[in-house]
Amino acid sequence: MDIREAIEIISAKFDASDIFYGHGTDNSIDEAVYLVCTLLNVSYDQLSVKQSQKIDDDDYSMINLMVNRRITERKPLAYLLGAAWFGGYQFKCDERALVPRSPIAELVINGFEPFLEDSPKRILDLCSGGGCLGITAALIFPDSRVDLADIDLSALALADENIQLHGIQDRVTTIESDLFQHLEGTYDVIIANPPYVSESEYDGLPIEYLQEPKLGLVCDQAGLEFSLNILQSSAAYLKDGGLLVLEVGYSKGDLERRLPHIPLLWLEFKHGGDGVLAISKQELTQFGSSFL
Ligand SMILES: C[S@@+](CC[C@H](N)C(=O)[O-])C[C@H]1O[C@@H](n2cnc3c(N)ncnc32)[C@H](O)[C@@H]1O
Repeated sequence: MDIREAIEIISAKFDASDIFYGHGTDNSIDEAVYLVCTLLNVSYDQLSVKQSQKIDDDDYSMINLMVNRRITERKPLAYLLGAAWFGGYQFKCDERALVPRSPIAELVINGFEPFLEDSPKRILDLCSGGGCLGITAALIFPDSRVDLADIDLSALALADENIQLHGIQDRVTTIESDLFQHLEGTYDVIIANPPYVSESEYDGLPIEYLQEPKLGLVCDQAGLEFSLNILQSSAAYLKDGGLLVLEVGYSKGDLERRLPHIPLLWLEFKHGGDGVLAISKQELTQFGSSFL
């Protein structure tokens, strides 16, 4: 059995199962490639030259075990493998935080083009979970200092492990904070991917999502509580010329109906994803009272 054949067989098994995609992949082939490449330690850019490489019996048994667990337990693959790819970087991933999948990754690796005139010196990843967004920003901007803030100490423990993994503990810090509560000073950029799933939507989610921390998903006020709070508070934590990038996901329509007079700028992503807005400190200040 070679790598290409294994990927085809696994993809067919996934197609015949009830599994749901949405944690970094959206189809059975990508899910099979992710599984095989991670377990065999083959990078994606080497896959085309290594696809005829034979898989020995021990490795094939290990792969099969993981395939069966993915199908029967319905756990996201990132939790089974302990690893997730995000913005081209590898992160430790487990049940202490959501599986990273924010489309904001694309904006970060493109250096926040076209929004910033200068490289950001101070960046906040608010609701950071395992730290994927803020750490990616720190890797893209090697002169920046980054704060990762979350209310959940378990998620921050994972973020600390990811900071160590990337060797950037001298300029990336975790802070336990209920939104802005324990934050000080001002930032050039605030990135925030807060919870935005309403309680009623949560009950209907596929099993894969129910294995993630509920604290990372669910939010009051039809999913808008955190977004409105962040829109209202961010101006005070941004430098002049600063930028807020906020993911609200499928609560986008509700937010537009709640703020009909504000021209919200929704970002488009080459690699897919929706419900992310960018707004300047100037606009946040101008429209401040509307967010109350
Ligand atoms: C959607 S997850 C985002 C995680 C990560 N930024 C990502 O993109 O994968 C939301 C995060 O918000 C955190 N959170 C929930 N309530 C919070 C609060 N009041 N203050 C700060 N963080 C909170 C959760 O612990 C969770 O890690």
